[in-house]
Formats: sequence, C-alpha cells, structure tokens
Amino acid sequence: MIKVLFGTESGNSEMAAEDIAQYIRDSGESAQLVPMEDCDVSELAGAGLAIVITSTYGEGELPETTQPFYDSLAEIRPDLSALKFAAFGLGDSTYETYGNGIDVVSALLRELGAQQVGDTGRHDAAKGLALSQVAVDWVRKYLPELGRLAA
Ligand SMILES: Cc1cc2nc3c(=O)[nH]c(=O)nc-3n(C[C@H](O)[C@H](O)[C@H](O)COP(=O)(O)O)c2cc1C
Repeated sequence: MIKVLFGTESGNSEMAAEDIAQYIRDSGESAQLVPMEDCDVSELAGAGLAIVITSTYGEGELPETTQPFYDSLAEIRPDLSALKFAAFGLGDSTYETYGNGIDVVSALLRELGAQQVGDTGRHDAAKGLALSQVAVDWVRKYLPELGRLAA
C-alpha cells in the first residue's frame, strides 16, 4: 500500500495526487489518497511508504492544508526512520521562492529520519505543461522501485 499524501491551497495538488494514485492502481499496486489535514503524524511511520505532494503559496510558504501537517510534525517530532517517501512539488518559477514548499516538507521528513526515494518531481505552472502528464511521467519513473518497497 502506497499512501499518497497531499496538501493544497486551491486544489491542484489534490488533482496531481488523484492522477498519481490512479496510475499506481492501474499499474497493479494499491494506493490510498490521504489529505494532509487527515493525517495523524504519530502514525505516519507505520505507513512504510508514502508519496508526499504539496504546492507553495504566499511568498515561499506552505499552502493551507500543508501548514498544520508540517506544524504537527515539527511539534511531535515522530521517529520516521521506518518511513520511505517520494516527493512531488507544485509551484511557479516566476516566483523567487519556486517550489519551496516541497523542499521544506521533505527536509523535515528527512530530519525526522525518513528516507527519500528518487528525485523530487516538480510541476512548474509557468511552463504550461499539463499537470496530470508531468505528475504521471514522474511517478512512472519511480514505480518499479516504489512497488518493490511496498511489497
Ligand atoms: C497567491 C499565490 C502565491 C504563490 N506563491 C508561490 C511561491 O511562492 N512559489 C511557487 O513556487 N509557487 C507559488 N504559487 C504557485 C502555486 O504553487 C501553483 O499555482 C500551484 O499549482 C498551486 O497548487 P495548489 O492548488 O495545490 O495549491 C503561488 C500561487 C498563488 C496564486
């Protein structure tokens, strides 16, 4: 089971999460969509494997539903050494703080002991490429490895 965690302000990260989860299911693995606001961070390590998706808002800040997840992680500081995660960020390169959100969340997950799988995927709204395509192309690259880890 791969948990697909998303945090968002205006819904794009949720769409990316849905596309990624659907691709995983179509490929024969199981995936569970989890909004970050519903995630109990003290049970996160039990997930074993997660894909973490968030946008960036404001001036390099976390979007509305990622901020409480981040704050809980920073406060509770669960031991995440049993967690492996892959990261996908949404942003817009016309901002100086392009893609800061996913970098901030990934850094905290690693600090708490989680191990990142693969390179952080990115969708840049300024490039005009379809979000769904960029998200699915990214997860396709890592699915064999994620599938092995989920087994
Ligand atoms: C008011 C506003 C501020 C934003 N600030 C940033 C930013 O600082 N850095 C960045 O990379 N993208 C920024 N973006 C772009 C969003 O991250 C991008 O539109 C993303 O697709 C939104 O995803 P979401 O709907 O999941 O929140 C901003 C967008 C808006 C509307």
